[in-house]
Formats: sequence, structure tokens, C-alpha cells
Amino acid sequence: MLRGVEKTFSSRQGADYVAVRGFYLELARGEFFCLLGTSGCGKTTILNMIAGFEKPTAGVMELEGKPIAGPGRDRSVVFQGDDSLYDWLTALENVEFGLRMRGVPKTTRREQAHHYLDLVGLTGQEAKHPSELSGGMKQRIQIARVLANEPKMLLMDEPFAALDAQTRAVMQEELRKIWQATGTSVLFITHDIDEAISLATRLGVMYAGPASRLKEVVDVELEGARNRTDDRFLGYYRRVYGMIREEVEVARRRERPDGPR
Ligand SMILES: Nc1ncnc2c1ncn2[C@@H]1O[C@H](COP(=O)(O)OP(=O)(O)OP(=O)(O)O)[C@@H](O)[C@H]1O
Ligand SMILES: [Mg+2]
Repeated sequence: MLRGVEKTFSSRQGADYVAVRGFYLELARGEFFCLLGTSGCGKTTILNMIAGFEKPTAGVMELEGKPIAGPGRDRSVVFQGDDSLYDWLTALENVEFGLRMRGVPKTTRREQAHHYLDLVGLTGQEAKHPSELSGGMKQRIQIARVLANEPKMLLMDEPFAALDAQTRAVMQEELRKIWQATGTSVLFITHDIDEAISLATRLGVMYAGPASRLKEVVDVELEGARNRTDDRFLGYYRRVYGMIREEVEVARRRERPDGPR
């Protein structure tokens, strides 16, 4: 669905910056794709274009055969951090918000909001306001809110980066369960190789920028609950680590051409 996509940012200082070029990616329905790459390689740029927030400079972008012309209800985005919850609304009302905007009748939207809050493990917290909840809980409400819109595609840009290690592991497990239960497609950006291998059905590593594109795509064939100490898990880890390591070196040399090798 992304074919030969390019994004050039024009700069006020003069020289334009080609962030991505020749980016190809075909996502299957229901798959969980993790996108990895060095800082500044263009991951968020790709996600913003799929979300419809940014337009590609060249190339074709389609969702189920239709060109992506702008944001739409078929795609929902979860950003890093959790500032987008409305603090004057309760957890339940936050989850209901999109449904209310769409004119879904009260009893139906209540029921759905309860269902998705339950799915993210927040039954019992419905009446609390975001300021009364922990960072991990707020992040779950964000996810519940997005799920309530029943998007075809969930776009997540490092959604767990700000969480502590334990909460993060719990959230990863929850997300995998939710994904299995709902069958939506997920595009998930992360810096964390371990997180990618724990979650993905497929993962892709990008080249260091500029003019970045996918370097390699790996099928993650691990059945059932994923165990980080499993030999096959570690095998994937080593492989992906090697792929990223090379790009970190490239990025470092580009930033400091005269630096130590
Ligand atoms: N609006 C913009 N104008 C100019 N340059 C931009 C703009 N947005 C991004 N860039 C540049 O495009 C490149 C890719 O940025 P992007 O945010 O996609 O990186 P990223 O892979 O998400 O990095 P990180 O892992 O640090 O979040 C960077 O070099 C960045 O400076
Ligand atoms: Mg980013």
C-alpha cells in the first residue's frame, strides 16, 4: 500500500531535506508490523503520511485500494505521551468522546466504552479523571478511546516509551491480546528491539537517513506467548540488533564525518 513513497521537507535555510525516498511497504490485513530505525531516519514521517497528516512528495499511498487523501476514521493514531486526554472528562467519557461526536446513541456508546475499558484492564476506573490516574492507566485510556472508533488500522508512535519497564511489559501483553481480540492491523514504531520482537508478526528496519527506506523486513515466527529468554527469540534479537547497529554507525559517521571510526 506504500509504493515508492518520498517525502521532502523544504527548509527556510535553503537546502531541502529528503527524509524518505523509494519507500515500499505492503501491509496485510490484521498484521502487526513494527517499524524500527535510528533516530531521525523517518519513522514518524512514514506514520504521519499513513495517518494523512502529511502528504508524500511522490509515490502512491493506498488503504485497501483507495488513495489516502487525508486523516480518516479508518485509521487511528496513538502518540507518545498521553496529553491528548480531556481532563474535564472521566475515563469513561474520554473513551466515549469519539462515539458521541459521531452521534452514537448514549446507551450504545456507554456499552462500547465499558467494553473497551474492560479490554485494556480498567474496569473500576471509569469515573476517574485523567489527573487521578497513573501514566500507564492514561495510556490505556488513550488506547481504549482509539479502539472504540474501531479503526481498520492502529498507528502507534512509540506509545510506551515513557512508561517504566514493568508497566511497559504489561501494556505490551495487553496490546497483543487486544490485537488478537479485535483483528485490527497495527503499525507500531519503536526503538526497542525487544518490544518489536515481543509484539510483531513482521518487523522492518529502515536505513539511516537521509533518503531512507526499508532496509530489511523480518517475519517473526514465534507461536503463543513470547518468551524473551527463548533461544529463537534471542536469535531474532541478534539478527535485528546487527541490522540496526550498522545503521547507527552510518548515522554517526554522517553526523561527524571526521570523527573516530
Ligand atoms: N516538518 C519538518 N520539517 C523539516 N524536517 C523535518 C520535519 N519533520 C521531520 N523532519 C526531518 O526528517 C527526518 C525524519 O524525521 P522523523 O521525525 O520521521 O524521524 P524518526 O525516525 O521518527 O526519529 P525519532 O526516532 O527520533 O523519533 C529528520 O531528519 C527530521 O529532522
Ligand atoms: Mg519519531
